Amino acid sequence: MKHLLKLLDLSPEEITDLLNLADQLKYERKHGIPHPHLAGKSLGMIFQKASTRTRVSFETGMVQLGGYPLFLSANDLQIGRGEPVQDTARVLSRYLDGIMIRTFAQQEVEDLAACGTIPVINGLTDFCHPCQVLADLMTIREHKGSFDGLKACYIGDGNNMANSLIVGCLKMGMAFTAVTPEGYRPAQVVLDFAKDYPGFTLTDSPMEGAAGADVLFTDVWTSMGQEAEKKARLKAFDGYQINDAVMAAANPGAMVQHCLPAHRGEEITEAVFEAHAGEIFDEAENRLHAQKAVMVRLMKQQ
Ligand code: CP
Ligand code: NVA
Repeated sequence: MKHLLKLLDLSPEEITDLLNLADQLKYERKHGIPHPHLAGKSLGMIFQKASTRTRVSFETGMVQLGGYPLFLSANDLQIGRGEPVQDTARVLSRYLDGIMIRTFAQQEVEDLAACGTIPVINGLTDFCHPCQVLADLMTIREHKGSFDGLKACYIGDGNNMANSLIVGCLKMGMAFTAVTPEGYRPAQVVLDFAKDYPGFTLTDSPMEGAAGADVLFTDVWTSMGQEAEKKARLKAFDGYQINDAVMAAANPGAMVQHCLPAHRGEEITEAVFEAHAGEIFDEAENRLHAQKAVMVRLMKQQ
């Protein structure tokens, strides 16, 4: 593994290795065992969109690994004034040991990786959110013990989260139902990947999707960059909500995962969110551990 650009690029073995290392790093952190795997290394973190979790977890994670994180707002970089990503990649490769980038187009992340000589980590694009889904998988395994026989269901927009969840959960052996309205389906490349998995279903019925589910996911109806579509989206996603009725259709003890930020009353009710807050904030915490595992695997000389 040279980069983390999208989960489609990773084998199930590589994902399992990251999850195992993340568990170990979490254990060490809880027990005060230092793990300075990246002493003397620097990570540049380019943000073209807002962030709470991604920024803070990468920044503190890098410090905990003994390294140095640089927060690079696109507003302050020359990239924001039109310097090509290809040149940015070649320059940053001369200074840094790794780059994390949050941006709009997946192609920009792929170009950064292709033109630079250091590992690139995708911290969210319009297409996918691989770091988040590694944390989700870690949380599911932590709560359920294993992925064996589990059914996952995603209800909402066929967005970056849906795309990464479908790929990550199917690669780890879970069954998966994606519940999205017509016109807001997951990306075609993800549907093409999923069609080889007999456990994958696509439907527009939340109740049908939730039936027998062990893990329920949702995400915002309007993602960053789509603010102008908000009104149309509120209408299109009406009913695509995790609520008590949906939870009643799921298996007893079903988990709820939300990458956050959440919009209570839209994709999830206040009652369901608060009833599952323990799992949801474990998921947020696990961003730290999962991303530290990614940085160690990519940036430490093996
Ligand atoms: N879930 C997530 O990526 O959160 P941030 O947008 O706050 O980084
Ligand atoms: N789908 C959301 C995820 C935020 C972490 C967005 O892209 O805004």
